[in-house]
Amino acid sequence: MTDLPANITAVAHQIDAEARRRRFGHQGGVVWLTGLSGSGKSTIGVALEAHLFAAGMNAVLLDGDNLRHGLTSDLGFSPDDRRENLRRVGEVAALFAKSGAIVITALISPYSEDRARARKAANGQFIEVYVAADLDTCKARDPKGLYAKAISGEISEFTGVSAPYEVPTAPDLRIDTTITDLDACVAAIATEAKVRFIGDMSA
Ligand code: ADX
Repeated sequence: MTDLPANITAVAHQIDAEARRRRFGHQGGVVWLTGLSGSGKSTIGVALEAHLFAAGMNAVLLDGDNLRHGLTSDLGFSPDDRRENLRRVGEVAALFAKSGAIVITALISPYSEDRARARKAANGQFIEVYVAADLDTCKARDPKGLYAKAISGEISEFTGVSAPYEVPTAPDLRIDTTITDLDACVAAIATEAKVRFIGDMSA
């Protein structure tokens, strides 16, 4: 938790992370997928959620496009709005993780500083996954037709075309979706999530 505002007191809980770990068979944590639009974040997120759930883990996906219908529906794509988007989602993901869930987030999250803040909110229970695909491939995939609109100028501040994407310099995992099929992407992330969040349950 960061510094508390004036006149706000923290409430101590009876149930701690260890009690939740024993109940659920794993710790809570955040798997943060970052990458360009069209890189494959949502596809991986959906498949990873199903994979971890089938393996008995309480996994839940928070997808940026879906959140922008509710929690973040008041925000656009300026740097300030993206920062607030990431701040809110980072805080919500940390709360879910605190409740014992494995939270998968799928957002472009183009700024390193915003990703670092999300990691801090999750108290280090955080796996940053860079879902890598070169811009030309994403433009060719263009699953929502948005690159075409961005290039014609119909959409402004579009990541990779008219807004920046800061490539993660030290992600926990880097998955190149131009050379790795979906099952292999999911398997690599799931292995890391199990090591980090299940660990040794006999302890
Ligand atoms: S983020 O940059 O703030 O992390 P977020 O992941 O929530 O972005 O939303 C990105 C999604 O919004 C894209 O998948 C795309 O469908 C849609 N979108 C609409 N306008 C833009 C834009 N200008 N830049 C990027 N994505 C956009």
